Amino acid sequence: MTGIKAKDTLAIATYIVLPNDTNTLTNLMGGQLLNWMDIIGAVCAGRFCKRVVVTASVSNVSFQQPIQLGNVVTLEAKVSRSFTKSCEVFIEVYKESQLTGIKIKCNEAMYTFVALNEKGETVAMPALIPESELEQARFDAALRRKQLSLILAGRMQPDEAKELKALFVS
Ligand SMILES: CC(C)(COP(=O)(O)OP(=O)(O)OC[C@H]1O[C@@H](n2cnc3c(N)ncnc32)[C@H](O)[C@@H]1OP(=O)(O)O)[C@@H](O)C(=O)NCCC(=O)NCCS
Repeated sequence: MTGIKAKDTLAIATYIVLPNDTNTLTNLMGGQLLNWMDIIGAVCAGRFCKRVVVTASVSNVSFQQPIQLGNVVTLEAKVSRSFTKSCEVFIEVYKESQLTGIKIKCNEAMYTFVALNEKGETVAMPALIPESELEQARFDAALRRKQLSLILAGRMQPDEAKELKALFVS
C-alpha cells in the first residue's frame, strides 16, 4: 500500500506557561491551548500533505486537568486518518512541573484540516498507513468522528453514517 506511515507524521511543540497565557486563577487559558493545538495540528497536517492547510473542524477537545503557570507544556500531534480532501490530526497534551519533573497527560483533541492549492481550491490528501494497534484504533474511530462532525455541520444525514450508527444499534 502506498502512503505515509502514521508514525512519520509526528510533530512536537514545547511551550512554557507565562503570565499572559493564564486566567485569574493562574492556570493556562483554554483558548491559548486551543491556539497551540491548532498550530501544531497545522504543522503536522501540512508536513503530511505538503500543502497549505486550513482548520475545517475541531472535535473531542477535553480539558481534563488545569495547567499551571510555569508548567512546561508539550504537544504531540500525529495524523490519525486521511480522507479524500481532509485529514484528522490527533493531538495529545502533557504538562510538566519544572520543580518536580513530573510529566502527565492532561488534554487531547482531534482537529480536521483541509489542503488547499495556490488558488485556494481543496485538493486530494495522501493516504495514511496506520501500523501500531493504537494507530489502527484511532484510524477506525476517526471515521466515526468525521461522520459526527459532518452531521453536526449539516453536511451528512444521520442515516448515511453507518459506522457511527453501529456504535448505538446492535
Ligand atoms: C474547510 C473548507 C476549505 C471546506 O470547503 P468546502 O468548499 O466545503 O470543500 P469540500 O466540500 O471540498 O470539502 C473539503 C473537505 O472538508 C471536509 N469538511 C468540511 N467541513 C467539515 C467538517 N465540519 N467536519 C469535517 N470535515 C469537514 C469535507 O468532508 C471534505 O473532506 P473529504 O473530501 O476528505 O471528505 C472551507 O469551508 C473553508 O475554507 N473554511 C474556512 C477554513 C478556515 O479559515 N479555518 C480557520 C478558521 S478561523
